[in-house]
Amino acid sequence: MVENATRAWDMAFYSVSLGPGDRILTAMAEYASNYIAFLQVARKTGARVEPVPNDEYGQLSVEALREMLGERVKLIAITHILVQSYTTPALRASGNRRGRART
Ligand SMILES: Cc1ncc(COP(=O)(O)O)c(C=O)c1O
Repeated sequence: MVENATRAWDMAFYSVSLGPGDRILTAMAEYASNYIAFLQVARKTGARVEPVPNDEYGQLSVEALREMLGERVKLIAITHILVQSYTTPALRASGNRRGRART
Protein backbone atom coordinates (compact mmCIF):
# COMPACT_ATOMS: atom_id res chain seq x y z
CA MET A 1 0.00 0.00 0.00
CA VAL A 2 1.36 3.45 -0.90
CA GLU A 3 0.20 6.96 -0.12
CA ASN A 4 -1.54 7.84 -3.39
CA ALA A 5 -2.22 6.85 -7.01
CA THR A 6 0.64 8.95 -8.37
CA ARG A 7 3.17 7.15 -6.18
CA ALA A 8 1.79 3.73 -7.14
CA TRP A 9 1.84 4.58 -10.85
CA ASP A 10 5.40 5.99 -10.59
CA MET A 11 6.65 2.83 -8.91
CA ALA A 12 5.17 0.68 -11.65
CA PHE A 13 6.26 2.90 -14.54
CA TYR A 14 9.82 3.53 -13.42
CA SER A 15 10.34 -0.19 -12.85
CA VAL A 16 10.06 -0.77 -16.61
CA SER A 17 13.44 -0.78 -18.31
CA LEU A 18 13.25 1.15 -21.59
CA GLY A 19 15.88 1.66 -24.26
CA PRO A 20 16.36 3.18 -27.70
CA GLY A 21 13.57 2.26 -30.11
CA ASP A 22 11.31 0.79 -27.44
CA ARG A 23 7.73 1.92 -27.93
CA ILE A 24 5.32 3.17 -25.29
CA LEU A 25 1.70 3.06 -26.43
CA THR A 26 -0.64 5.36 -24.58
CA ALA A 27 -3.92 7.23 -25.04
CA MET A 28 -4.39 10.64 -26.60
CA ALA A 29 -6.23 11.66 -23.42
CA GLU A 30 -3.77 10.08 -21.00
CA TYR A 31 -3.47 11.61 -17.53
CA ALA A 32 -1.13 14.58 -17.95
CA SER A 33 1.43 13.74 -15.28
CA ASN A 34 1.78 10.23 -16.71
CA TYR A 35 2.38 11.68 -20.16
CA ILE A 36 5.05 14.02 -18.83
CA ALA A 37 6.83 11.02 -17.27
CA PHE A 38 6.69 9.21 -20.64
CA LEU A 39 8.25 12.21 -22.39
CA GLN A 40 11.00 12.62 -19.82
CA VAL A 41 11.94 8.94 -19.94
CA ALA A 42 11.73 8.90 -23.73
CA ARG A 43 14.12 11.83 -23.93
CA LYS A 44 16.55 10.11 -21.58
CA THR A 45 16.42 6.60 -23.05
CA GLY A 46 15.54 7.02 -26.74
CA ALA A 47 12.20 5.23 -26.30
CA ARG A 48 9.27 6.51 -28.35
CA VAL A 49 5.88 7.64 -27.06
CA GLU A 50 3.04 6.77 -29.43
CA PRO A 51 -0.51 7.90 -28.61
CA VAL A 52 -3.18 5.53 -29.94
CA PRO A 53 -5.64 7.50 -32.13
CA ASN A 54 -9.23 7.96 -31.02
CA ASP A 55 -12.24 6.53 -32.84
CA GLU A 56 -15.13 8.54 -34.28
CA TYR A 57 -16.67 8.83 -30.79
CA GLY A 58 -13.55 10.37 -29.29
CA GLN A 59 -12.66 7.19 -27.43
CA LEU A 60 -9.41 5.31 -27.76
CA SER A 61 -9.67 3.17 -30.87
CA VAL A 62 -9.23 -0.45 -29.91
CA GLU A 63 -8.75 -1.26 -33.58
CA ALA A 64 -5.92 1.27 -33.85
CA LEU A 65 -4.34 -0.14 -30.71
CA ARG A 66 -4.46 -3.62 -32.19
CA GLU A 67 -2.77 -2.36 -35.37
CA MET A 68 -0.01 -0.68 -33.39
CA LEU A 69 0.98 -3.79 -31.44
CA GLY A 70 4.36 -5.14 -32.46
CA GLU A 71 7.75 -6.38 -31.36
CA ARG A 72 9.12 -3.03 -30.18
CA VAL A 73 6.16 -2.32 -27.92
CA LYS A 74 7.62 -2.46 -24.43
CA LEU A 75 4.79 -0.81 -22.55
CA ILE A 76 1.09 -0.17 -23.05
CA ALA A 77 0.11 2.41 -20.46
CA ILE A 78 -3.47 3.61 -20.70
CA THR A 79 -5.45 5.00 -17.81
CA HIS A 80 -8.61 2.95 -17.52
CA ILE A 81 -10.87 5.61 -16.02
CA LEU A 82 -10.00 9.07 -17.29
CA VAL A 83 -10.83 11.61 -14.63
CA GLN A 84 -11.35 14.27 -17.33
CA SER A 85 -14.19 12.39 -19.01
CA TYR A 86 -14.94 9.28 -16.94
CA THR A 87 -14.59 7.15 -20.05
CA THR A 88 -13.35 3.58 -19.80
CA PRO A 89 -11.65 2.30 -22.95
CA ALA A 90 -12.66 -1.24 -23.90
CA LEU A 91 -9.12 -2.49 -23.45
CA ARG A 92 -9.81 -5.80 -21.80
CA ALA A 93 -11.53 -7.14 -24.91
CA SER A 94 -8.63 -6.02 -27.09
CA GLY A 95 -5.93 -7.49 -24.87
CA ASN A 96 -7.66 -10.80 -24.43
CA ARG A 97 -8.18 -11.23 -28.14
CA ARG A 98 -4.41 -11.00 -28.58
CA GLY A 99 -3.85 -13.10 -25.49
CA ARG A 100 -1.02 -10.92 -24.29
CA ALA A 101 -2.25 -7.87 -22.40
CA ARG A 102 -2.71 -7.89 -18.64
CA THR A 103 -5.36 -5.52 -17.32
C1 LIG B 1 -5.63 8.73 -13.71
C2 LIG B 1 -5.17 9.43 -12.47
N1 LIG B 1 -3.92 9.21 -12.02
C3 LIG B 1 -3.47 9.86 -10.92
C4 LIG B 1 -4.28 10.72 -10.20
C5 LIG B 1 -3.73 11.39 -8.98
O1 LIG B 1 -4.12 10.69 -7.87
P1 LIG B 1 -3.43 10.92 -6.43
O2 LIG B 1 -3.89 12.28 -5.99
O3 LIG B 1 -3.98 9.81 -5.57
O4 LIG B 1 -1.95 10.86 -6.59
C6 LIG B 1 -5.58 10.95 -10.63
C7 LIG B 1 -6.43 11.87 -9.87
O5 LIG B 1 -7.58 12.09 -10.18
C8 LIG B 1 -6.04 10.28 -11.79
O6 LIG B 1 -7.28 10.46 -12.26
